[in-house]
Amino acid sequence: MRKGYLRGLLRGRLPPEELGRLPAGFQRVGHVALLRLPPELWERRREIGEALVGRNGIRTVAVLRGVEGRERRPEAEVVAGDPETVTLHREHGCLFRLDPLRVLFSPGNLHERGRLPKLVKPGEVVVDLFAGVGQFSLPIARLARPSRVYAVELNPLAYRYLCENVRLNGLGEVVVPLLGDCERVAPRGVADRVILGILHVTHRYLPLAGEVLKPSGGFLHYHESVPVPLQFTRPVERVRAAFPGREVEILGVRRVKKYSPGVVHVVVDARVGPATFKARAEGEGGC
Ligand SMILES: C[S@@+](CC[C@H](N)C(=O)[O-])C[C@H]1O[C@@H](n2cnc3c(N)ncnc32)[C@H](O)[C@@H]1O
Repeated sequence: MRKGYLRGLLRGRLPPEELGRLPAGFQRVGHVALLRLPPELWERRREIGEALVGRNGIRTVAVLRGVEGRERRPEAEVVAGDPETVTLHREHGCLFRLDPLRVLFSPGNLHERGRLPKLVKPGEVVVDLFAGVGQFSLPIARLARPSRVYAVELNPLAYRYLCENVRLNGLGEVVVPLLGDCERVAPRGVADRVILGILHVTHRYLPLAGEVLKPSGGFLHYHESVPVPLQFTRPVERVRAAFPGREVEILGVRRVKKYSPGVVHVVVDARVGPATFKARAEGEGGC
């Protein structure tokens, strides 16, 4: 929906200073529209929601206040329309069933979800360490020709949707959902490609990604939220430093989206070379 759509709908209903504070856009997941409102417009949330209900298939309007904790649970409230928030969302040739008020489905990652399948070569084994409801795993399985995609997810609710989405899209031959902490349940030594699609803590999982890759090496997609002045340095330095004794080639750094004032979400594509005997012995504490 075009920028300013919401302002157009509410022109004449809100005073000009409030109109100016309305967000330029909003997120759409299936029949649910998710808005972020500044605190000054909180009192107006129902009126704003009502203006959107019924437009372009929107049946429910919710206000998103934040995202909480390790499982990235949205904090959100329905303000207008149908209280049913479980929905069916279509994207990149896949169907996603989910409740966007209970599990995160980031609108800003849309391009990334379409980009990754184009990089995967036929026959590859992919490990998606933070799979959510299948945001990356499903388009890869549908649009590329991997031999396996291991999709690891910690949150039982997101895992339930992940399994449902694998069935819904007929991808059960390719995608293997795994429930639990990736440190514990991710398969080791199998991957041609590892996706680290989480923010804030990603660098802590780089050593794990090294173990998950085949000993012959492979590709990484490393996501990080980073202050703008460090966007092209810190994530790359972290990736380079994580694999002592292995060759690391940085293939690209892309800005995925603005994250918060002064902070951006970037993804680093890298190729990690073979694990040498020395690197493995160091990783194991030597003998
Ligand atoms: C924000 S979602 C991201 C989904 C998808 N990768 C994306 O970027 O759109 C992150 C997911 O990682 C899961 N998660 C967090 N820590 C985890 C861990 N240690 N092992 C497995 N999953 C984890 C959360 O439950 C959440 O569903």
